[in-house]
Amino acid sequence: MQDKESLWQAAFTSADPSDLDAHNKHREKILNDPQILNRTIVSDGVVVGSVGRYFMDGVAQVTYWIGSEFKNKGIATAALAKLLVIDQTRPMESRTAFDNEASARVLQKNGFSVVGTDKYFANARGEEIAETIWRLV
Ligand SMILES: CC(C)(COP(=O)(O)OP(=O)(O)OC[C@H]1O[C@@H](n2cnc3c(N)ncnc32)[C@H](O)[C@@H]1OP(=O)(O)O)[C@@H](O)C(=O)NCCC(=O)NCCS
Repeated sequence: MQDKESLWQAAFTSADPSDLDAHNKHREKILNDPQILNRTIVSDGVVVGSVGRYFMDGVAQVTYWIGSEFKNKGIATAALAKLLVIDQTRPMESRTAFDNEASARVLQKNGFSVVGTDKYFANARGEEIAETIWRLV
């Protein structure tokens, strides 16, 4: 999660991805929050990423991250499909940077559609950028 290209792509990242203490505190919070569902993605016995569901203003949101060397093998698409079986909360939403085409594809392939846009400060880009709001009903 310190890969520069991936950080730019995801855009809405932590303020300082190199801050291990902050990262660990955040992970601990996530893992201890019963409202958050988090799964490690393992492919051929190797940890390749994570996928999760949390709530924002009462609306379920999915998020995922794949290690750069494992991208474009269909892993995020398959992992999200599995999460959507484990967690059948609907509607389910996700937000992507307006130009995160790979994440857009992952959502499209899992049946999500665009329902709106918003603007939010993107730490990885140092400015407010547009985000696309996706929903699965
Ligand atoms: C977004 C991300 C999770 C995708 O993971 P992945 O395992 O590579 O995704 P998949 O292989 O399942 O699918 C990727 C799709 O995007 C397409 N794609 C990849 N890069 C692309 C690009 N630059 N432009 C257009 N499409 C692109 C692939 O061709 C594929 O679509 P296809 O199946 O129709 O050919 C991964 O790139 C990542 O972790 N990025 C950094 C973190 C991030 O952005 N997380 C999401 C935040 S909303």
